[in-house]
Amino acid sequence: MKDRRNWLKANWDELEAQGSDQQRRVAYPPLEQPGPAATELIELPPVAELQMGTMPLAEAIARRESRRKWSAEPVKLAELAWLLWATQGVRSVPASGAATLRTVPSGGARHTFETYLVVQSVVELEPGLYRYLALSHRLARLRLQADIGEQAGEACLKQRTVSRAAVTFIWSTVPYRAEWRYGVAAHKMIAIDAGHVCQNAYLGCEALGLGCCAIGAYDQGLVDKLIGVDGEDELAIYACAVGRPM
Ligand SMILES: Cc1cc2nc3c(=O)[nH]c(=O)nc-3n(C[C@H](O)[C@H](O)[C@H](O)COP(=O)(O)O)c2cc1C
Repeated sequence: MKDRRNWLKANWDELEAQGSDQQRRVAYPPLEQPGPAATELIELPPVAELQMGTMPLAEAIARRESRRKWSAEPVKLAELAWLLWATQGVRSVPASGAATLRTVPSGGARHTFETYLVVQSVVELEPGLYRYLALSHRLARLRLQADIGEQAGEACLKQRTVSRAAVTFIWSTVPYRAEWRYGVAAHKMIAIDAGHVCQNAYLGCEALGLGCCAIGAYDQGLVDKLIGVDGEDELAIYACAVGRPM
């Protein structure tokens, strides 16, 4: 490990001197992965109409903790919609079209994440894999799969917190969105950004009377396969199991 750190340190100036595609005037990458073809798109309740998440912020911060035991009561679609907005919701797209401004901060507003949902127990949604289309606040249904929760639990090193969660958020990153601007420094930005997203999940869950647990322990190859990404241009980076706490 130390060898790798030392290698990076020794070569940092040279790596940084290579610059970024933005400096080379390469066109900016898409803000979102294209919606999959021939899939069902599900309109989510508009955020402006959701009367929830009104707990005082100080209370949500004071109550926040990792929760790992879930009751059988499902999560409502409106609650899920609100959490998706709280973690990745798009507030605006600046006129340049090169970035998005969202409910969470992101280095250079690069916002490299996509949100996949392992749905087990959400009212109005059949169990399966979904992806949040943040730009249009919709869900794309990727596939129905009755045992998706078990599969996700296996991929997360057999954690019951995941296999029994009502819904698990899995965030992937498309590194090039940040590399385009930051070159070799992009990966630090991406890791920091992931923390902001999950913290909003924690505070949002508290505010709704739900609970969640950050999940960083997982098998990279299995989770990438589960959500259908190649592990190169897009890879899983972080997850969060959500449910109604016991
Ligand atoms: C980056 C990160 C990864 C984590 N991964 C896991 C995990 O895989 N499984 C788990 O049960 N908890 C996980 N946690 C939750 C921590 O164990 C938890 O935050 C810590 O024990 C402190 O407890 P608290 O969140 O209740 O304050 C993770 C937390 C972070 C920030």
